[in-house]
Amino acid sequence: MAMKLGTTLMIKGKIAKDVDRFAINLGEGPEKLGLHFNPRYDQSTIVLNSFDRRLGKELVVDHLCFAQGSEITVVMIFDSDGVKVMLPDGHQISFPNRLGLSQLPYLRVEGGQHLLPEV
Ligand code: GAL
Repeated sequence: MAMKLGTTLMIKGKIAKDVDRFAINLGEGPEKLGLHFNPRYDQSTIVLNSFDRRLGKELVVDHLCFAQGSEITVVMIFDSDGVKVMLPDGHQISFPNRLGLSQLPYLRVEGGQHLLPEV
C-alpha cells in the first residue's frame, strides 16, 4: 500500500459482535507505527498511540460511536500534521505525526473486524 502525504484512506468493514477491542495500525512497518487506532468496547473508549520500538503516550478519546456488529466506514487523512480520523458519525480525531513519517506503507488490522481498505 502506498499511503503518501495527502492520501485519504477509507476503511469499510463490519465489526464482529463479540469483539472487545480491535486496532487499525498504520506506519512504516510493524515496529514503526505512526498510528495505532484502538477502539475498546471493554473500556468504552478509543485509544490512539504511536509505536517506535516502544509505545508512546496514549491519546484516549471518549467517542466510541460505533457498535459491535455494525458496519462502519472510517476515513483516515494523512497530511503533514499527522492523521485525521473521521469516525462514522463525523467526529474527527487528530493524531500528530510523532515519528515524522512521510509515507505509511504498512496497514494491519488486528482483532475483530473484516475490513476492506481503499486508498
Ligand atoms: C496497551 C495494549 C496495546 C496497545 C496499547 C496502546 O495497553 O496492550 O495493545 O493498545 O495499550 O497504548
